[in-house]
Amino acid sequence: MGASGSGKTSMRSLIFSNNPASLTARLGATIDVEQNHVRFLGDLILNLWDCGGQDAFMDSYLTTQRSTIFQHVGVLIYVFDVESAEMHKDLEYFRDCLDGLRAFSPEAGVFLLVHKMDLVRDRGATFERKKKELQEHGDKGLVPGQPATSLTVFGTSIYDESLYRAWSSIVHTLIPNAAVLSKHLSIFAEACSATEVVLFERTTFLVIATSAPPPAAAALEATRYERTSELIKAFKHSCSRVREEFHALEMELPEFSAVLDEMTKNTYVLIIVHDPTIETAALKLNIRMARRKFE
Ligand code: GTP
Repeated sequence: MGASGSGKTSMRSLIFSNNPASLTARLGATIDVEQNHVRFLGDLILNLWDCGGQDAFMDSYLTTQRSTIFQHVGVLIYVFDVESAEMHKDLEYFRDCLDGLRAFSPEAGVFLLVHKMDLVRDRGATFERKKKELQEHGDKGLVPGQPATSLTVFGTSIYDESLYRAWSSIVHTLIPNAAVLSKHLSIFAEACSATEVVLFERTTFLVIATSAPPPAAAALEATRYERTSELIKAFKHSCSRVREEFHALEMELPEFSAVLDEMTKNTYVLIIVHDPTIETAALKLNIRMARRKFE
């Protein structure tokens, strides 16, 4: 949810329909609610509701459609345009939505995206200011004794990897066996003598789980997961432009080697190895042998 023009359909189109950011300017306003079912992992189906943000629709969600909109919510993702000229109104609607959520889906996670961060100059300071404002505002609607809803805030933009970071975190909270997956990935990483193993969802390329961070993780780029998602998505898009399909990727560089290949029907696995004696062919063989276990 979020005000009209804040960027909801744009992010959906980038992440779930593989469209490039440049095409989002052509998107029209969403009328009422657009529902998508995304088969995410095996039996896990993500039911995504993109709620058009024009005032008339928002008023309807908060009155006649209230029980439909806020019932059985897994997570609420509320998008704020960082440059919104109507922040006061945005905050009012946000609070009303939180009230609706507390009434019908008190267990739901709440994620707030301060979006279009590419438009601001001082990204860090602006984000911290907005985050504080949103968190303070979220607590205002509470009646005495009511527990505060935990709000997770991300700064995002469709023009960089920040969107993938936010959405990977959101989706991660919805995966029931994420911890088990991470454990298995750590065992697999060890079997491959890999520095790190990352599991991505096939269509969105969002990060589902990773192996335990390597001992020297501090030396690695903190944004490496979301940057990989963004790069692979862009590469997949380039492939489709020349009518080729993306299948797998193999890199052998002096510093490291990497293999990205299909793990299961719905996932891709990335293995990063810093040991020059490990052949990528061996990594591919290991993936093939691990497939059944991860399916
Ligand atoms: P409704 O459907 O009316 O609720 O609007 P919406 O929230 O779905 O907005 P939409 O996705 O249609 O985006 C509106 C405009 O914002 C489009 O022109 C997008 O190109 C632009 N936009 C979306 N995300 C970003 C972003 O991260 N940065 C910038 N600069 N523009 C963006």
